[in-house]
Amino acid sequence: MPNLTNVQHPLPGPKSRQLLDAWHQYEAQCTGYQAQLVWDHAEGVLVTDVDGNKFIDWTSGVLVANVGHSHPKHVEAVQRQAGRLMNNYDFPTPERVAFAKRMVETTPPNLDKAFFLTTGSEACEAAVRVAKRYTGKFEIVSFVGGFHGRTYAAMSLAGMAGTKRQYGPLMPGVIRAPFPYCYRCPLGKCPDSCSMECFDLMETIVDASTTGSLAAVMVEAYQGAAGFIFAPDGYLKRLETWARDRDLVFILDEVQSSYGRTGKMYAAEWDDLRPHLMAVGKGIGSGIPTSALMAESQVIGALGQGEMSSTCGGNPVSCAAGLAVLDIMEAEDLIGNANRMGAIIKDRLLQIQEKCPYLGDVRGRGLVIGMEFVKDKQTREPAPDITRQVIDNAAQHGVLVGSVGIYGNVIRVAPPLMIHDAEVHESLDIMEQVLTTLYTREG
Ligand SMILES: Cc1ncc(COP(=O)(O)O)c(C=O)c1O
Repeated sequence: MPNLTNVQHPLPGPKSRQLLDAWHQYEAQCTGYQAQLVWDHAEGVLVTDVDGNKFIDWTSGVLVANVGHSHPKHVEAVQRQAGRLMNNYDFPTPERVAFAKRMVETTPPNLDKAFFLTTGSEACEAAVRVAKRYTGKFEIVSFVGGFHGRTYAAMSLAGMAGTKRQYGPLMPGVIRAPFPYCYRCPLGKCPDSCSMECFDLMETIVDASTTGSLAAVMVEAYQGAAGFIFAPDGYLKRLETWARDRDLVFILDEVQSSYGRTGKMYAAEWDDLRPHLMAVGKGIGSGIPTSALMAESQVIGALGQGEMSSTCGGNPVSCAAGLAVLDIMEAEDLIGNANRMGAIIKDRLLQIQEKCPYLGDVRGRGLVIGMEFVKDKQTREPAPDITRQVIDNAAQHGVLVGSVGIYGNVIRVAPPLMIHDAEVHESLDIMEQVLTTLYTREG
């Protein structure tokens, strides 16, 4: 079988180099680290750069292209809609009504209303607004390592310094609790033997911090930006029960985890969660900017007419794209595929981990798998420098990966959900070779 990947030049190739120079000249450079190349086009999981190099994409953009890049049915739906109607602001359209209905039908059964926006940050921001209005209170519990976007409330809730450094003063009323990052347990416990003491610590911190005006708790289904960190089974359900017992609004941020990414339509299904509000985005438009706040009608009903809107929220192109994504996911069983391919990838990475002295942890579900790099498996000292080397070397050999992590030391394995066997095996072979070179070169 011929290789799917093909990288002819040391990266960046000549055309990429020229465009990167212009990019550095004309666009503000405050985005994250990535391999040096300029994307030209992509199909499924295969990305071609402007120099004709071909890569297997383990990024999906940033967990966006769930149905694959430029899926023909997705493209057709967008083109058809763009030729009919592109914007209508707050007026309903057939596509908008149909998309709202499908969203309500696919989300947890207590969520019976959709409100459309454009970005994930906006959906999280809207959740905060609704929770405060509904409860008449202002304090929100969020988590160390949490990420909800770059707008003001979303950023204020974040649990990583980088998101908000020198941006204060932030939104008042945020109470931040530790998240169960089991590989680096803040209490030094081990997930097999602990009794979720971190949960008790969360309660203690909240009780000690609140002024008595608790409105909500906001949590990601898994922590994305912090390094693909999954809470132990039962933690999120316990958190939901805790919130409901205290009449707090339970807000689940599924911006990154929605639409099959974890091997369920929504990650909420793993723990049978019933959030009052759920923010969704990224994969739901699979490349066309779309997000939504899914809500219990009683809760979002706290906002009256004219109290929330967004210029491009619910625009017909986004809604047509969202409907096409749902059709494709069903027709191609992308959730089943995410589970099958995710299991193959995780198993193989776990085998590679045994040999590689720098691969400290491999974790995840479905097609969201994190590879955490450390300088030493005993000390678990984070290795962001090795992580960058892996990003560059993997790209040079034909696999595109990005990094996340509180310490910038976690490689994201998050290919489009339609990735096939051949692409899985070729990309894993490349990753194994890249990692083997890292430690054999030294020895
Ligand atoms: C969990 C989570 N929430 C919110 C956001 C913000 O989404 P956006 O970048 O579309 O504003 C992100 C983006 O990475 C995210 O991962």
